[in-house]
Amino acid sequence: MKIAVFGIGYVGLSNAVLLAQNNTVVAVDLSQERVDQINARVSPLEEAELSEWLATRELDLSATTDATEACADAEFVIVATPTDYDPKTDFFDTSSVESVIALALGQSDTASIVVKSTVPVGFVARMRALHNTDRIFFCPEFLREGQALHDNLHPSRIVVGADSPAAHDFARLMAEAAEATDIPMLFTGPAEAESIKLFANTYLALRVAFFNELDSYALSQDIDAYQIIEGIGLDPRIGTHYNNPSFGYGGYCLPKDTKQMLANFSDVPQNLMRAVVQANKTRKEYIAAHVIGMQPQTVGIHRLVMKSGSDNFRQSSVQGVIRDIRDAGIRVLIYEPALEKKKFMACEVVRDLDDFKAQCDVIVANRASEDLSDVAEKVFTRDIFGKS
Ligand SMILES: NC(=O)c1ccc[n+]([C@@H]2O[C@H](COP(=O)([O-])OP(=O)(O)OC[C@H]3O[C@@H](n4cnc5c(N)ncnc54)[C@H](O)[C@@H]3O)[C@@H](O)[C@H]2O)c1
Repeated sequence: MKIAVFGIGYVGLSNAVLLAQNNTVVAVDLSQERVDQINARVSPLEEAELSEWLATRELDLSATTDATEACADAEFVIVATPTDYDPKTDFFDTSSVESVIALALGQSDTASIVVKSTVPVGFVARMRALHNTDRIFFCPEFLREGQALHDNLHPSRIVVGADSPAAHDFARLMAEAAEATDIPMLFTGPAEAESIKLFANTYLALRVAFFNELDSYALSQDIDAYQIIEGIGLDPRIGTHYNNPSFGYGGYCLPKDTKQMLANFSDVPQNLMRAVVQANKTRKEYIAAHVIGMQPQTVGIHRLVMKSGSDNFRQSSVQGVIRDIRDAGIRVLIYEPALEKKKFMACEVVRDLDDFKAQCDVIVANRASEDLSDVAEKVFTRDIFGKS
């Protein structure tokens, strides 16, 4: 079976690699560089398992910038292009997904279009009405960056927002390619599948915001957040997972998905949705104010990435902290090996870690690092459990 995958990012690439074990997969991107990398079996993303699979596994995978060629004879067209949040409209910008849908439907009278990009609730119904077809369905993606392929090989569930034969065929393809067995499968309505994705991410953001707010309280009262979190987590209804304080939730998805969820509630009474979005901003401001209160001359920011093992710092929470410290007139230096620029957010980037340590009197790190063990007395982090 031939499958076209649009977008060679975390979602598109991991799905392309997964499905290329058993199918002919053609990946499409606007970026010639990414296309060339895939054809040379090099991962454009820093993720060990993806790199290893591309380099060593037998995969029927090629890449192109030619969308028409990719769609020819494809039975499924997977859309994994960006849906950035647009603050002007207060909604996702779904234009890249819409253009791929229009193109794919124009190229084939039979292919099913599987939207894996995260979309606002109601998007698929709007597309089906616009194109007068039910060949479009949403299949939410639940992967974590840094473990994209692993999460598709071991999915927590497969959700498809349709109950048609094509929807079942697609779910079967995904399950057959996975390493896990007995994967729960749900076939839902289109708006229900879209809601599952946005509510799931809003719950994750809520949980992060809860433990962060608990930690702000502990920090302000000079009491031990570790002891409190350990004590509440032993209640099995709460659990000891996903509870490590941070400077705020970040990354590509949680900030934009929570804002989109809030926008979807425009005509529905709510308090929590807005609180989640606001709590993240408050947390970053609180962390920055705390650091400013230490009256440092020079603050070092150790890493911009959200997680160790990642090379991507889209919307990382530390950027909000940097902004406030910088705007308070304090000199800020940044240490980030994944950054090639000399300046970031108008702050100097220092390449040499020893030089960085010597110049800073406070080092702010969202996640603790072995690299900093020799300057532990300078480090400010709220990474209590040493995990992401
Ligand atoms: N990153 C995640 O953890 C994650 C998880 C679940 C869902 N999602 C959702 O999946 C979608 C994609 O996210 P991502 O992180 O994989 O994005 P990404 O930014 O890593 O990659 C997107 C790719 O799409 C390409 N692209 C843009 N427009 C295109 C077009 N018209 N045709 C072909 N290629 C095009 C870009 O060049 C880029 O390589 C988003 O809607 C996101 O919200 C992401």
